[in-house]
Amino acid sequence: METAVKIPRHVAFILDGNGRWAEQRSLPRLEGHRAGVNNIRPILKFLNNHGVRYVTLYAFSTENWNRPQEEVNGIFHLLESVMSKEARELHKNGVRILHIGRMDGLSPKLQKSINRAQKLTSSNTGLTLVFAFNYGGRAEILDAVRKFVASGTPVDTLDEKAFAKYLYTADLPDVDLVIRTGGEIRTSNFLIWQAAYSEYYFTSVFWPDFNEAELEKALLNYSQRQRRFGGL
Ligand code: IPE
Ligand code: IPE
Ligand code: MG
Repeated sequence: METAVKIPRHVAFILDGNGRWAEQRSLPRLEGHRAGVNNIRPILKFLNNHGVRYVTLYAFSTENWNRPQEEVNGIFHLLESVMSKEARELHKNGVRILHIGRMDGLSPKLQKSINRAQKLTSSNTGLTLVFAFNYGGRAEILDAVRKFVASGTPVDTLDEKAFAKYLYTADLPDVDLVIRTGGEIRTSNFLIWQAAYSEYYFTSVFWPDFNEAELEKALLNYSQRQRRFGGL
């Protein structure tokens, strides 16, 4: 890629299309989730090499509880195994791991591996990798309102900047680019506050097939966008 391209600081992914990827191959849906999890590593490496500093991965939404229990358990199992297997390697590469979403409801094993990975990598200064598990944008805003009210802070001090400190993403910069794979053109409750001025890139490619070449296309497309933030 040319060096003159604009590189987004924070890229967030809606990892969609795992189930259809599997169905297309007459495989169980869980095989699609497995292939999806395996696709994370090469994509992260590419982003890191291109100077992206923050990557957020939407892997389980607060609405995904509506799926069959068996699929939910299978997804948690995969996420738990990727967390515990990859954390050390990510740590070696200076990656800082964070989780956004509600911990309550996640399996105890997954909670444990998330806590361990966060602790292990907390002082790393390389890429920040944010896992959105049991994440919902509306739930996040409600949780923030509850925290704000519980803090007893006078309401007249509250502005957008102050409110953002109560969100799960308190210390993260706003998202520059949201990439959604799998063909749907919607946000599905993802980062509704933080992506208010993000650029969106939608592709029909299923997440397990979303490779470096597809990512390069997305980054090139982003670098041709003109962001105005309401100005001229
Ligand atoms: C995305 O893939 C992963 C999760 C939402 C957990 P899907 O499972 O939604 O895949 P499709 O949309 O059915 O193909
Ligand atoms: C969005 O995908 C959530 C995640 C990728 C975690 P879904 O497959 O759940 O979204 P909808 O139901 O098609 O909107
Ligand atoms: Mg889907």
